[in-house]
Amino acid sequence: MEQLIFEKSRKGRVGYSLPELDVDAYDINTKIPDKFIRKNDAELPEISENEIARHFLRLAHLNYNIDLGFYPLGSCTMKYNPKINEVTSSLSGFTELHPHSTDEMSQGALQVMFELGEALKEITGLHGVSLQPAAGSHGELTSILAFRAYHHARKDFKRTKILIPNAAHGTNPASAAIAGFEIVELKSNDAGRVDLDDLKSKLGDDIAGFMLTNPNTVGIFEKEILAITEMVRSCGGLTYMDGANLNALLGIARPGDMGFDCVHINLHKTFSTPHGGGGPGSGPICVSERLIPYLPVPHIEKVDDKFIMNFDKPESIGKVLAFWGNFGMLTRAYTYIRMHGAKGLREISENAIINSNYIRALIKDNYLLPYSEYGMHEFVISADYQKELGVSAKDIAKRLLDYGVHAPTIYFPLIVHECMLIEPTETETVETLENFADIMNKIAEEARTNPELVTGAPRNTPIRRVDDALAARKLNIRYKAN
Ligand SMILES: Cc1ncc(COP(=O)(O)O)c(C=O)c1O
Repeated sequence: MEQLIFEKSRKGRVGYSLPELDVDAYDINTKIPDKFIRKNDAELPEISENEIARHFLRLAHLNYNIDLGFYPLGSCTMKYNPKINEVTSSLSGFTELHPHSTDEMSQGALQVMFELGEALKEITGLHGVSLQPAAGSHGELTSILAFRAYHHARKDFKRTKILIPNAAHGTNPASAAIAGFEIVELKSNDAGRVDLDDLKSKLGDDIAGFMLTNPNTVGIFEKEILAITEMVRSCGGLTYMDGANLNALLGIARPGDMGFDCVHINLHKTFSTPHGGGGPGSGPICVSERLIPYLPVPHIEKVDDKFIMNFDKPESIGKVLAFWGNFGMLTRAYTYIRMHGAKGLREISENAIINSNYIRALIKDNYLLPYSEYGMHEFVISADYQKELGVSAKDIAKRLLDYGVHAPTIYFPLIVHECMLIEPTETETVETLENFADIMNKIAEEARTNPELVTGAPRNTPIRRVDDALAARKLNIRYKAN
């Protein structure tokens, strides 16, 4: 069992060496009010320098990551993070720039932000942009707050509902609810798309907007998208595209041309910034003309040859994040976009689509395909055949770990029974794709011939199967010495 750093602690051991203090000791007691002074020593581990380095390096090795292997997590677009991104985002002109620097002193950083915003506008076919939101879900919330501001500016207070398909990511209804709206759920049809009759029956003058993921969460393009956005707009609603799946559309189709008023972009998916561990992420939003006044402040603008932060936007919803967004993510995404150019971005999506459909073709004989048509950059399978043998999607996911591969997303979207959502991304080689398909086929064979092998997985990981429901419900991550 891996020791905690607290368990490695030995009294008096230190991991630093500092010179003797050569100034008068600061008189803490007279300068800091007594109530803020700690009376007891902090319970911190006492560890030597090389033990600290070894401890964290060993933990890092236990952790599966994108630099270690294939990570086909559907809906999450776990693509390779180019190392050049780390070089550009670490340039001292960026890292040493104080967030309170004046516009004059921040011209380079503002230029990067401005040009990234322009690129995102072009990619999405929309007219305004904010780089502030710190995640896709935060972009959703920011957008829905802008929807509310738009309707309220028109004194249209009766629009209290947001339409969301039942296949949507959980953050969509959560964001709309936090912004104060009631959620109206829409059915999906047998092909995995929005049920147009259900949509029609729920439209009315109480609808503030519609949130839709395209390609949708089962990896299928909404063919009737123009009809859908037109229906919503003609009843006075605003249209929102969850852009988590933008990796399928770059240079091929633009949300603005599909009739969307707004889209969020997960830079940590489509534009290769690091993903996982809760951030720091970045979820810029692009909006149509009519939503520009409500975007967060400041707007980054170019006036003559200078870049400025414009706070003078009276109808803005205000700030949604401290300072200017997760700037280090913006430089990485900017690098990625400039490195690929328009042609390269289109190739990214084309290859992502080909790779996904290739794996689907290689494993289709062993798993149930709930939707018969080809998908875009990701696809769903169901473990229903295996379930009849006593093996679940979760068992298969755990068994993949034994073969050294990260599992795909499981049990999402909720509309597919025993769902596995697989997204290889464009950055993987044909050998990696074929290796994954071989493993999936092998596990299907194991489920038929020796199901305990699968239901008892994982066997080769540092920790065997944990009770994740218990861990989530009774989370206890506080170390307390005996
Ligand atoms: C379809 C979809 N929408 C929204 C989100 C939320 O994005 P984020 O994780 O950046 O908050 C995700 C996240 O995985 C997603 O898959």
